[in-house]
Amino acid sequence: MKSEDIDQLKDRFLKEVKKENSSKERKKICKRYIEEELSSVFCSLKNLSGERKAEIGKKANELRKLISDLLENEKEKVFQAEKEFDITLPGKNVELGSIHPITKLQKKCERIFLRMGFAIAEGPELENEWYNFDALNFEEDHPVREMQDTLFVKQKNREELPSQERFLMRTHTSPVQVRYMKDREPPFRIIVPGRVFRNEATDSSHEINFYQLEGLMVGENISVANFRSVVGYFFKELFDADVGIRLRPSFFPFTEPSFEVDVSCSICEKKGCSVCKKTGWIEVMGAGMVHPNVLRSADVDPSYFNGFAFGLGIDRIAMIKHKIDDIRLFYSGDLRFLRQF
Ligand code: PHE
Repeated sequence: MKSEDIDQLKDRFLKEVKKENSSKERKKICKRYIEEELSSVFCSLKNLSGERKAEIGKKANELRKLISDLLENEKEKVFQAEKEFDITLPGKNVELGSIHPITKLQKKCERIFLRMGFAIAEGPELENEWYNFDALNFEEDHPVREMQDTLFVKQKNREELPSQERFLMRTHTSPVQVRYMKDREPPFRIIVPGRVFRNEATDSSHEINFYQLEGLMVGENISVANFRSVVGYFFKELFDADVGIRLRPSFFPFTEPSFEVDVSCSICEKKGCSVCKKTGWIEVMGAGMVHPNVLRSADVDPSYFNGFAFGLGIDRIAMIKHKIDDIRLFYSGDLRFLRQF
């Protein structure tokens, strides 16, 4: 070993540390030179003759001092930086999200029905044609079975498959009525909140997905009066006002008789406003007495049991409640909208 070797080592070291601009990396380099490169120099000193040993040893010691000073210096810098850190400064603001208005309303509906002894049931969003249509007494050629209204899943030789194996995105939460009743014994009192899908051209009042809250009560001698009472109580609680309800005749394949349910406008108190389109009433749900064929699909004997069912659009109620004029805002993810709830 020659004394130039130490010069070279020093040059190499200086080049390396100068290149590095993170203090952490510079400290690593210093440590490596002291622990590896220099210690092997010191190790090989013992093989050298007296004079060269003294000369090279001195140089190596100088280099070690230079490196360890630098290391100390780096440590001091970090220490200083830490000292300069002002612990009294306020921390970084972590923004919290908020519960989506649809979820909020869903939970509110659930709480009201839970108080009336209803249980919460759920079903799959990817449904088969049997539960979505057949079991609910839809005619084979009902228009909703057309591609224009329903989002079907592409399947090979779909036409040849039985309806239990033909998939679609559920168009309503009603299939859960049958799913729930099928392996249970009446009486039933359930609500089914969930997302449903329609093949819609979207506009301010139509979306390809939205939320429904299904209700089902089945037992012995259930009447329309029972329905009126349950639903009337529900809307009074929901709107926190003495709202009235009104039934109009309607049609659904799975209920007979069927109704549209209106609530009196809580905004103008029936005087007529833009929300109720000057009628004093707002249409809020479809409903009816469960069709005997639906009970049969679910293996419930219609000669002993009957009941009512209803389906409420959660989005629609949220729009009325908050005076929102475009359903698409709920699905836009726009924080300026979401932050208001
Ligand atoms: N499923 C119906 C719809 O989506 C609503 C409904 C539910 C009507 C239950 C009657 C009974 O429009």
